[in-house]
Amino acid sequence: MKSIFVTGGAGFIGSHTCLLLLEKGFTLFLLDLFVTSSQKSLKRVSLILRKKGIDIKGKIYLVEGDIKNKYDIERVFKMSFELNKIIESVIHFAGLKSVAESVKNPGLYWENNVNGTINLLKVMEKYNCKNIVFSSSATVYKAKSNAPLFENDICEPVNPYGNTKLTIERLLKDIYNSDPSKWRIASLRYFNPVGAHESGLLGEDTLGKPNNIYPLITQVAIGKIKEIKIFGSDWPTIDGTGIRDYIHIMDLAEGHFSALNYLLKEKPQFLTLNLGTGIGTSVLELIRCFEKVNNVEIPYSFDNRRVGDNAFVMADNSLAKKILNWIPKRNIEDICRDGWNWQLKNPNGY
Ligand code: NAD
Ligand code: UFG
Repeated sequence: MKSIFVTGGAGFIGSHTCLLLLEKGFTLFLLDLFVTSSQKSLKRVSLILRKKGIDIKGKIYLVEGDIKNKYDIERVFKMSFELNKIIESVIHFAGLKSVAESVKNPGLYWENNVNGTINLLKVMEKYNCKNIVFSSSATVYKAKSNAPLFENDICEPVNPYGNTKLTIERLLKDIYNSDPSKWRIASLRYFNPVGAHESGLLGEDTLGKPNNIYPLITQVAIGKIKEIKIFGSDWPTIDGTGIRDYIHIMDLAEGHFSALNYLLKEKPQFLTLNLGTGIGTSVLELIRCFEKVNNVEIPYSFDNRRVGDNAFVMADNSLAKKILNWIPKRNIEDICRDGWNWQLKNPNGY
């Protein structure tokens, strides 16, 4: 079975994707610096698989290291050669993702996200590995009002984090153009990944610093935060609150599995795909759904609009559905149920 190099595999999206790939029989080489995560997520991955009777002995190799350091990346490739489990493809999750932090410290984001990716691509070239799936974001798009976003829509990020993602996409395109007969590249633009694995053993650990609406809701539900402050009640939407495309983390993980299989099976190419559900949910709808599904109360009040926010961010996901033969299977009720299950079982994270 194929060996995959996963950067940032201990993080929220990485850990759920690693779980699925191990279930499917892949061998994984992980590189992570544990800046926004810990090894505990990977212990939970092993636990879930053990409970399912899946033996992952000799199937997962973890290297603690930094993508900013080329030698750390090389260590992973060398290890795979020594074990004769040659890495066929890379899934590149490692990156910093806080918009607010990127505004305060853009250099950190450019150095980590862009320089780290340049290092990764250089080492991939050296070891003749030319398949990569990259974690991009809906944040690269120029916002539209009240219409879904298509992959060929205008890109115009409004913060340093988004700039790093778009820059990496452009870098990947240049790399592809340098050798189009060899490179297989998929840039996946995620919308709003939320929820948790259905076991309640794996989920998003914000390390006590949630900024996004979904982990804030679960923390209000468990009593760690008093109430939700809704940023704006006067957006041009059905109920005046912001609309987003929330995608269940396991649907997103399945999107990676499908993208990887597609890349490895088809001719070399450069792909850009939206991974979202194509369904918009307002902040108030999300709160009400969470209350109803879980029979809890979520107090909230209205606050001013957040700087840089948009009324409406939703994917047109028809290209991903068509090309990958992938479809998001879980709805907003599943998202609310699974995220609450995770929060209840892990009130303080891992
Ligand atoms: P996360 O913070 O949970 O995981 C990121 C992982 O990368 C962590 O394990 C972290 O320790 C690791 N990492 C960061 N810098 C590193 C470095 N220099 N060397 C090695 N490891 C490093 O975030 P996530 O939500 O799992 O996001 C994964 C990717 O998806 C990121 O690139 C993020 O920008 C992108 N993305 C996330 C979202 C989202 O809302 N979660 C949306 C769009 C795109
Ligand atoms: N919101 C509130 N109160 C809060 C937090 C958020 O009302 O305390 C609202 C926002 O105004 C928005 C919605 O909830 O209407 C969603 O906001 P999030 O912060 O949860 O998510 P965003 O869509 O703003 O951004 C997220 C990530 C970005 C990523 C983007 C697209 O934070 O990094 O999704 O993937 F780029």
